[in-house]
Amino acid sequence: LVAASPGVISFAGGLPSPALFPRGILARSFLRAVRSPALQYGWPEGSEVLRRWVSERLRARGARIGPGEILITSGAQQAIDLATRLLCRRGDRIAVDAESYPGALDLFRSRGLQPSLTAQPVRYAMPAMHNPWGRAAAISPDGVVLEDDAYAELRFDGASPPTLLASARASVFHIGTFSKTLCPGLRVGWLVPPARWFRASLRLKRDEDLQSGGLAQAVLEGYLASIDWDARLARLRRCYARKAERLIDSLRRHLPGWRFREPEGGFSVWVEPDGEGSSTGLLRLAVEEGTSFDPGRSFRPSPVDRPLALRLCFSAVEESGIDEGVRRLARAWIKLQCRDPGRARIGRRRPPARVRSLRARPGARAATVDAIVAPVGRRSARRRSSTRIP
Ligand SMILES: Cc1ncc(COP(=O)(O)O)c(C=O)c1O
Repeated sequence: LVAASPGVISFAGGLPSPALFPRGILARSFLRAVRSPALQYGWPEGSEVLRRWVSERLRARGARIGPGEILITSGAQQAIDLATRLLCRRGDRIAVDAESYPGALDLFRSRGLQPSLTAQPVRYAMPAMHNPWGRAAAISPDGVVLEDDAYAELRFDGASPPTLLASARASVFHIGTFSKTLCPGLRVGWLVPPARWFRASLRLKRDEDLQSGGLAQAVLEGYLASIDWDARLARLRRCYARKAERLIDSLRRHLPGWRFREPEGGFSVWVEPDGEGSSTGLLRLAVEEGTSFDPGRSFRPSPVDRPLALRLCFSAVEESGIDEGVRRLARAWIKLQCRDPGRARIGRRRPPARVRSLRARPGARAATVDAIVAPVGRRSARRRSSTRIP
């Protein structure tokens, strides 16, 4: 909600850049698709053409997968859900990283599972490219792994990352999507379950929604047939790498004490400010300054702010707005220190002169801030369940 407000430079939400949506080619493909049999019911496993396309991409990464082993799903989110429902029962624990994709954490919780930092029989991971870390996060595949590959093709160096399918086929539910590399609105993703789970996955998928949208699949088929996918990926990587570089550069200049590791790909950088405090408190002040981000606590199995952290997405911000966005964030950080100097402190250093002068001006917060931020910081239970961070 805040991310979409006019005038806000938003680093929130793992959104692809709308400037990179190929609207013209998709529109032409759509016109062909509506005249095709795609408006009729299809099969629960999805388009044969798309499944062949996905299998070829996976084979190029060393996985010996045929089209008959793939299910087309309504985005990666449905693939995560299908795998979770097949493997886990209410009350089970599921292993996750110290920080993880909030949409999966929310889904696990609403299915009655407990995300856990300790080893468990089932684990959710993003080895090729991690959200929110923006880096590869190799794992040893013990037990069954839900391998979320959503950002795998968005490594800035263009390297083709390995998939666990190549080394641990029998214990991996591999999950992919076109949401990050093309557009999330089509809602097309895929699931490659272990062979012995294929029939059960297909049945569950059919019971859930009969099939994923046939029209979207047909549009995608037509699109893929008329473009050079590798050339598109190269363009995306260049664009996102440039934005990431700009963000890193601005963080170093305006918030020199903040810690982060440079992203290797994906849409975001995970940053840890040099102090304590509440990430939602910082968000309130950031919105007051005209910027926003995703509070770090949303990415953790239990929503804690220690260490204080935030995810900054560079993907959908205009490149020319990044530096100004970080300046606004720096102002919010200074305000947080003024408001709550005991908790949000910069190490043990004396506060900078700008902070000391701001401290002398209490009441700097605009009265409207709480109203603007309320949907983020104090959402009702209903709103919380319907507002996921991608
Ligand atoms: C790691 C990860 N997995 C899955 C998804 C959901 O993708 P989809 O739009 O394909 O459902 C997201 C969306 O942000 C994501 O970041």
